[in-house]
Amino acid sequence: MVKDSSSSLSQWSLRGTTALVTGGTKGIGLAIVEELAALGATVYTCCRNQNQLNECLQQWKIKGFQVSGSVCDVTFPAERETMINNVSYMFEAKLNILVSLSSFSKNIVLFFIFY
Ligand SMILES: NC(=O)c1ccc[n+]([C@@H]2O[C@H](COP(=O)([O-])OP(=O)(O)OC[C@H]3O[C@@H](n4cnc5c(N)ncnc54)[C@H](OP(=O)(O)O)[C@@H]3O)[C@@H](O)[C@H]2O)c1
Repeated sequence: MVKDSSSSLSQWSLRGTTALVTGGTKGIGLAIVEELAALGATVYTCCRNQNQLNECLQQWKIKGFQVSGSVCDVTFPAERETMINNVSYMFEAKLNILVSLSSFSKNIVLFFIFY
């Protein structure tokens, strides 16, 4: 989690970039959402628990992070498609970073950067 973005991270900026982090409400995903948002990225995340998502969105808003999200179980193709359509609409079809934590394979964290 980002504790002091004014020191070591201040030389980096992701302002103007977009990121999708699946499974961003707990654990590694939560930390990645907060790092990316603290660096200025606009982030979209998802999880299966609406209450947990709402709590996170509220905390991120208080912290001034640009994070939005929706409930999506990524193991269901129809839910993935709906989420991707939302993300595409929100980010105007421009996605720079994809972090897939709630992936189809256990113990795999996928991280893609697009330019
Ligand atoms: N922790 C480690 O040391 C470690 C090491 C190597 C790899 N990994 C891998 O990294 C990933 C994250 O690990 P973690 O320890 O941070 O897990 P975690 O604390 O359990 O967090 C998982 C996140 O993914 C969401 N999620 C789980 N299943 C989902 C689904 N089907 N659709 C959408 N969202 C889903 C969870 O929210 P909901 O439950 O609300 O959906 C939560 O936000 C896992 O794939 C794990 O296997 C972890």
